[in-house]
Amino acid sequence: MSKIILTGDRPTGRLHLGHYVGSLKRRVELQNSGKFDEIYVMIADAQALTDNFDNPEKIRQNIIEVALDYLSVGLDPSKTHIFIQSQIPQLTELTFFYANLVTVSRLQRNPTVKNEIVLRNFEASIPVGFFTYPISQAADITAFKATTVPVGEDQEPMIEQAREIVRKFNATYGETLIEPEILLPDNKVCMRLPGTDGKAKMSKSLGNCIYLSDTADEVKKKVMSMYTDPDHIKIEDPGKVEGNTVFTYLEALSCEDDFKEFLPEYKNLDELKAHYQRGGLGDVKIKKFLIKVINRELDPIRERRHQYEQNIPGVYDILKEGTKIAYNTAQATLNDVKAAMKINYFDDAKLIEGQIDKYKNN
Ligand code: TRP
Repeated sequence: MSKIILTGDRPTGRLHLGHYVGSLKRRVELQNSGKFDEIYVMIADAQALTDNFDNPEKIRQNIIEVALDYLSVGLDPSKTHIFIQSQIPQLTELTFFYANLVTVSRLQRNPTVKNEIVLRNFEASIPVGFFTYPISQAADITAFKATTVPVGEDQEPMIEQAREIVRKFNATYGETLIEPEILLPDNKVCMRLPGTDGKAKMSKSLGNCIYLSDTADEVKKKVMSMYTDPDHIKIEDPGKVEGNTVFTYLEALSCEDDFKEFLPEYKNLDELKAHYQRGGLGDVKIKKFLIKVINRELDPIRERRHQYEQNIPGVYDILKEGTKIAYNTAQATLNDVKAAMKINYFDDAKLIEGQIDKYKNN
């Protein structure tokens, strides 16, 4: 069986370090592993519209931002098809047919939907489009016969629901769709990188993100004002590393080579942590180290971004090309789906013959 990846992001803002360690870095590794037959990465603008329907301009502006972020982290259009969800009408058709296989109560039980309803104050009146987006996400995944969906842990309920839809479809209409597997980050710290303020998650509205497109100066400013251990006041004080955002980031991003290069008096993160816990290590020193680590990671990303920024029409061409390929794949699946559901009337010579026979002797 072919190994196929599908994943994507809603284009509601520029991508940040949380996206990078939680998913983007992994995608590039998977892309370069040579282990996958096809890789699709989708800019989920239609899904973004389910809770931004009144602000399509925001989505429109962020499509190019997300595309630039993708290309700059090293997604390679010769290996990965990057495409725009709304340009694949087959996804809406699949959604419509899958909707028959899902109950309202099952959607209401989807934990991610539940959380988001509260988050967006949708309790009193939930837009139908938003409410049913797990079904549309199942269409995204199955349209490409994806076997593997690399995503963050908040997407687990979506993949589970997609798997249920696949099973129900195949049981009802015959083996047609592929049941996808979720691929979570293997490093726990990377599952959810906190914001620079120590809050649970990087989020644009909280203003606590480090963006992939931030300059070295912006990174410096943000790291210098980062949340550490509020009880670590004097350098001599023993400090806490748990819940200390600087250490969390170092855990997600630093490697032993960084110590060799930028902080040779320590062999690794464990030694640095031990010193901090003992006391005698100041926040400024660990922050300066973190700045170097982040910039070591972001420098090549910035450079690639700069190249692509010089050729914006070229970026749109990449999206157009990826979208064309995605369109054809989704159409092939839709044909299979319609055949399985026996709603391919005009391609079904037997159906027509049968009808001829039925009326022959009238
Ligand atoms: N829901 C995902 C997010 O919020 C985006 C997305 C849409 C997606 N369709 C998908 C992810 C299919 C993986 C597979 O980021």
